[in-house]
Amino acid sequence: MQRTVIIDALQRRDFGAEINVRGWVRSRRGNKQVSFIALNDGSTIKNIQIVVDLTQFDEEKLKPVTTGACISATGILVESQGAGQAVEIQLKELEVYGTADPEKYPLQKKGLSMEYLRTIAHLRPRTNTFGAVFRIRHNMAMAIHTYFHEHGYFYFHTPLITASDCEGAGQMFQVTTKNLYNLKKTEDGQIDYSDDFFGKMTALTVSGQLEGELGAMALGKIYTFGPTFRAENSNTPRHLAEFWMIEPEVAFIQKDELMDLEEDFIKYCVRWALEHCMDDLEFLNQYMDKGLIERLKSVVDTEFVRLPYTEGINILQEAIKNGKKFEFPCNWGDDLSSEHERYLVEEHFKKPVIMTDYPKEIKAFYMKLNADDKTVQGTDVLFPQIGEIIGGSVREESLDKLNAEIERRHIPMKDMWWYLDTRRFGSAPHAGFGLGFERLMLFVTGMQNIRDVIPFPRTPKTAEF
Ligand code: 4AD
Ligand code: MG
Repeated sequence: MQRTVIIDALQRRDFGAEINVRGWVRSRRGNKQVSFIALNDGSTIKNIQIVVDLTQFDEEKLKPVTTGACISATGILVESQGAGQAVEIQLKELEVYGTADPEKYPLQKKGLSMEYLRTIAHLRPRTNTFGAVFRIRHNMAMAIHTYFHEHGYFYFHTPLITASDCEGAGQMFQVTTKNLYNLKKTEDGQIDYSDDFFGKMTALTVSGQLEGELGAMALGKIYTFGPTFRAENSNTPRHLAEFWMIEPEVAFIQKDELMDLEEDFIKYCVRWALEHCMDDLEFLNQYMDKGLIERLKSVVDTEFVRLPYTEGINILQEAIKNGKKFEFPCNWGDDLSSEHERYLVEEHFKKPVIMTDYPKEIKAFYMKLNADDKTVQGTDVLFPQIGEIIGGSVREESLDKLNAEIERRHIPMKDMWWYLDTRRFGSAPHAGFGLGFERLMLFVTGMQNIRDVIPFPRTPKTAEF
């Protein structure tokens, strides 16, 4: 008999019809006369109840139906007498696909800690919480593609293996087929890459931006959406070594339009979650974060604050004067730490903030220099609970200024020739940003740790599964 997915089964009202559902047993309870199986197949957070009349059904056959077992159940769809569900299934035929030994199956108990669940990341999608998170993750990916497609952007695929360090932070994972135990050196003692797979030093990308700019200089509006890698030794609830980034790049826009895009795009994604993921959000709101749905709604309805870095520093210093204590200093020129960002967003403005015009020394080489020669046109978006969710900027379109900056920073020019060609041939004003997909997921789900919004997190010293 053809399978009905549980999300559809729960909508059906053709009582008396025969129906087949398949999934994993969440629980089984009951008494001598009747047994109730709560079955989940991942299509929705909701279980369907299967009722077994033990006066009709051989109880022995139910023995393997324990928490975690996978079954196929065929029966009659009936109106439910119990509270909590509209429909249920009266079991006629049962097939057990896979048992789960109650002595060994780790997901028996409720309320297992997030830390413990990380150690069984191969099974945690079967919990309510992670089922909800990963369904929302899918929906957010759909929101992102839909937004850009509807706004005339092209999905441009940038390489994961690259020879350039976009952010210049030296946090790249090298890619090599060389024998690391017997490295060939050049005469001056450097590693000789000439016999390596690509004939030069290569690494996993930290950002698709530079190649994305090449796309924007031909197709006008592009976006990338793919995995990104950073070998930064940050053991925080907001950093991953492998994360997904969305990077739109747009020709002919200026700083204000870039900020409009950042704000419009995030609001669209959050609205999408409210429109498409309410069952899962309600679950997370109830069990993980009581303020979640309210916070999502408030972001959709709020105008973001637009704040030059220099004014932000003034606000922070004023706060310090009035007795506020921060762990790190924040004088003009310092990179803001997340405590500063969160103070501005959560305590001072109580709204998302787009911070602009940072000192050039704390930002990457490609950002457009302001007339003051000291600040660049960065436009980072700072969010409640998260801190930086977007890093963006107008790009320096002048070949001379870009060259001067590359020289000042001692970036090896020979590696950048192709990037500079965009400024040599038909250069155009343009701008773009990068949104950390998992940071968006943290905000939308209310989860506390970035390791819990990606199926298989990669962090320092962990690459299990
Ligand atoms: O601010 P970042 O480093 O900016 C760039 O990479 C630019 N090239 C983007 C662009 O303009 N196209 O990173 C962008 C965003 C951050 O705001 C943050 O949300 C996320 O990527 N991010 C991380 N997310 C998880 N783990 C990490 N280690 C992250 N590093 C950055
Ligand atoms: Mg940044």
